Amino acid sequence: MGILDEDVQRVREATDLVALAGEHLGLRRVGRRFTGLCPFHTEKSPSFSINPELQLYYCFGCGKSGDAITFVREVEHLDFVDAVERLASRANITLRYDDVTVSKDRQRRTRLAEAVGAAITYYHRVLLEAPEGGLARRYLRSRGFDGDAARTFVLGYSPEGYDALSVQLQQQKFSRDDLVDAGLAFVNRANRLQDCFRGRLMFPIYDARGEPSGFGGRTLTNEGPKYKNSSESAIYQKSRLLYGLNWAKGEIVARGEAVICEGYTDVMAFALSGAPNAVATCGTSLTDEHFAILKNLARKVTLAYDADAAGQGATEKWYAWEQKYEVQLQVADLPAGRDPADTWKEDPAALTKALENAKPFLQFRIDRVLAAADLTTPEGRARAAEAVVPVLRQHPNELVREGYISPVAGRLGFAHEWFKRAVDNSAEPTRVESKPAAGSRIPRADRREVEMLRLAIHEPELVADHLDAALFVGRAPRAAYDALASAHTLHEALATTDPDARELLNRLAVEEPEFGEQRDAYVVELVANLTESAGQRLLQQFVEAGDDRASEVKQQLDVLVRARDDGEWSTAKSVSESLLALILHGSGQGEP
Ligand code: UTP
Ligand code: MN
Repeated sequence: MGILDEDVQRVREATDLVALAGEHLGLRRVGRRFTGLCPFHTEKSPSFSINPELQLYYCFGCGKSGDAITFVREVEHLDFVDAVERLASRANITLRYDDVTVSKDRQRRTRLAEAVGAAITYYHRVLLEAPEGGLARRYLRSRGFDGDAARTFVLGYSPEGYDALSVQLQQQKFSRDDLVDAGLAFVNRANRLQDCFRGRLMFPIYDARGEPSGFGGRTLTNEGPKYKNSSESAIYQKSRLLYGLNWAKGEIVARGEAVICEGYTDVMAFALSGAPNAVATCGTSLTDEHFAILKNLARKVTLAYDADAAGQGATEKWYAWEQKYEVQLQVADLPAGRDPADTWKEDPAALTKALENAKPFLQFRIDRVLAAADLTTPEGRARAAEAVVPVLRQHPNELVREGYISPVAGRLGFAHEWFKRAVDNSAEPTRVESKPAAGSRIPRADRREVEMLRLAIHEPELVADHLDAALFVGRAPRAAYDALASAHTLHEALATTDPDARELLNRLAVEEPEFGEQRDAYVVELVANLTESAGQRLLQQFVEAGDDRASEVKQQLDVLVRARDDGEWSTAKSVSESLLALILHGSGQGEP
């Protein structure tokens, strides 16, 4: 793990889960809890619940649960260490690490990010101030980007020549290895350090946290490839990076929508046209990892690719992601043959309109087929109908397919029935992954055992004397009880127990006990019920073993049941206690 436990604890204590979650979703106070729409699944009424005293959350809809650290991990798609580091910096805590290699790794990455950061600053200054930046400044202006845009996106220019950056950064005490490992320079055949980027317009790329990662560099002279990107390194992994995410993240969450485009200039154009929620991949097509990051931030993903690129892309991949991540995928309505930056340059309002008129992916594909068809003759309409069937058929959801058939049949002037038959007859089997029904993820457990655990968490002093492992037979409640009994705090119990028990404990932490009219009576009755069950099990065991303590247990059980049924709570309470003592002895200190 790496970070000292003690420091993880400090971070937990310094973080308020309610404030943290409040940055991602609206929260409303309900009794002692806060509730809101779950950020981890789509829902219309709030099932996400936080217990502010225990600093734990649980969603009754999807079962996601945890504390501030798990929340950050899930929402921002970070690993444990990243999440703790994020919260630590939020709380101004300096972390200490216990594992030398892990901390060396991290130090190394920090060093590389510093080197990239220094390069960003250097290139930026060259672009804004140096005479040799003139070419790039003119180029940017020709594309419609002014000085403010260059500053907002920290654009830069890498001078011609071969080692301007290397010289500069070595003066700042970065070593050869730093420069090479950060993808900024390489050792040439003359064994000299040479810059990777020369004579290019530089787009700095940051990770989601805003740490410098690398660059995309555009040629201004048509020499070499149009764009060169940083080579893969400890801090630059193109399959996980999204250009602009550091700036766009807040807006993506706020709008519930992410716009994905292909180019750096497209992201800039969107931001400048009033859509600062756009990101781009960095010289690669969109990966599963990219999508997984985005679906944590927004439910709606709008593709702003050049229409041909969107139309010819891997359709099945899009549908699969749409289903797997439960996002709504739509396609921006860009003019044919234009990417967002071109569109914006020609007419800024057109880019805004392209987003407003975004269509569901299937609608977009159908429209493309129909737009290419000749609908003036029956022959042309027949060809269009035949062309549109495979498009309809590809959609994995039967109801969605059905929903599109009528309008298409109407537009082409053929019977709904014909389309339905054509689409269904050849329909590919739908592969909808089965999801566990809401609330069913916790294995069934005796309701009373669960209730007892709930009291043990919220009102431990009321039940402490009546608790023993022998009362819990359900697997998850028993594991949860064992974890609670051997830990000092609930957080410690959560850290040491198995996933089912953890989920149970998390859920119980956000549920308040329902005492009903009389709190004491409620507690005694619950205690009596659980003790009775445990007593019955012991009785059975004694009878089978021919143990003569059976009659004593039987007698106590009778007294207990009568007292409980008559509402004689003080008797019920004391008999419960003595019966529990018998159980402890009889079953060997509560071992099963
Ligand atoms: P495009 O060729 O569509 O470029 O590539 P663009 O974004 O419209 O660039 P401008 O507007 O002419 O400046 C789209 C993206 O593909 C990657 C880059 O990330 C680019 O932004 N790409 C393209 C490369 O990585 N290498 C290339 O040689 C070309
Ligand atoms: Mn372009």
